[in-house]
Amino acid sequence: MILAGRLLLPDDADGVELAAGTVELDGDTIAAVNVGDTTTQADAGGPDALICPAFTDTHLHLPQFDQVGAHVTPLLRWLQDVTFPNERRWENTGFARGMAERVVGQLLSVGTSGVAAYATVHAEGTRAALEVFTQRGFRGVIGQTLIDREAPDYLCRPADQLLDETAALLDKFSPGQRMSAAVTPRFAITCTAPLLEGAGRLAAERHAAVQSHLAETVAECDFVGELFGGKRYVDVYRDAGLLRPGSLWGHGIHLDDADRVTLRGHDAVVAHCPTANSFLRSGSMPWREHHAADVAVSLGSDIGGGYERSMVRVARAMIETAAARGDAYPTAAQAWRQITAGNAELLPGPDGGVLLPGATADVLVIEPDVPWLDHPDPLAMLLWAWDDRWLERTVVRGEVGYAAG
Ligand code: GUN
Ligand code: ZN
Repeated sequence: MILAGRLLLPDDADGVELAAGTVELDGDTIAAVNVGDTTTQADAGGPDALICPAFTDTHLHLPQFDQVGAHVTPLLRWLQDVTFPNERRWENTGFARGMAERVVGQLLSVGTSGVAAYATVHAEGTRAALEVFTQRGFRGVIGQTLIDREAPDYLCRPADQLLDETAALLDKFSPGQRMSAAVTPRFAITCTAPLLEGAGRLAAERHAAVQSHLAETVAECDFVGELFGGKRYVDVYRDAGLLRPGSLWGHGIHLDDADRVTLRGHDAVVAHCPTANSFLRSGSMPWREHHAADVAVSLGSDIGGGYERSMVRVARAMIETAAARGDAYPTAAQAWRQITAGNAELLPGPDGGVLLPGATADVLVIEPDVPWLDHPDPLAMLLWAWDDRWLERTVVRGEVGYAAG
């Protein structure tokens, strides 16, 4: 397959640049990237098309796709009243598998082929989701959410059982595979210290990815303080051995300089979820402070606390959130970099998010209906005028996973 248009390529800083050319796919791999070649007969694209690496979403909840818009704030109430009853549905593995299949279709239709996702506490539902995402060529991790307290009985399990189940998932979906299991303690409130410590040991033994939530709301931080004898929230995870290089910490809003030093010192990543933070009124992540402290920041939709599936619109919310704080904020080029190579590099597992010979053929063909190439800042126009109907096709591992029309 040959795709032609403006290629979205990483620049030497932290942005992207556009170059006219073609991308040649051979099976599941990019065989060649021909900058300057505008003459070749192409299978898709054209002079005004954008050829872009597929997007990566570094924080989302698969079972929550049907609860978007359910608005019972604040977070801890929303979990008890909306989210936990909803996640119970995954005790039926057939339901979980069907929902995972539907979610895959929804993600491909907005150009996402890489995920760091949460399933539920149900091991079999998590396994089904991993099978579905593997089969559809996705890249990334899915985790069984570990819960042994502060949730309804129907979602709590003994710590040993949860750790055995996640270990069994890691046997089959081991790190390094295109889709692997992640060690996923839901957050410190729903996990006893032995469960957190067991999760930290398991991640170390298996070199497994870790993901969880951190400092999303003030009430949550206060409750963690009560549950763990006044310890700092970040230190609870650090002391359990969970603050591992590349570990993904959802939200990371209510943190101070000392917390940033701890996160940076452990090469941990904050998964910024701006749409969820505004929807649940949790606060706004200090993008400038995290960047100034050299804390790695990825971007996630956090469906269904977040309401927006499209990573382009989540990137837009990232800019608006930072700007509303009166801070320095990311440029459009940085936003495009974030949802492609930036997020892909921070996703556990194989790399993606780049148009390079030898890379996996996860590529989008985008055909804007606006004269974006005449705009003084074409990438800004694409971002702010974005319309999902511009997505002509999503190619995953060389196969057309979604086609418009
Ligand atoms: N903290 C613990 N669980 C969740 C969740 O499902 N969504 C969000 N936004 N925060 C959480
Ligand atoms: Zn979340």
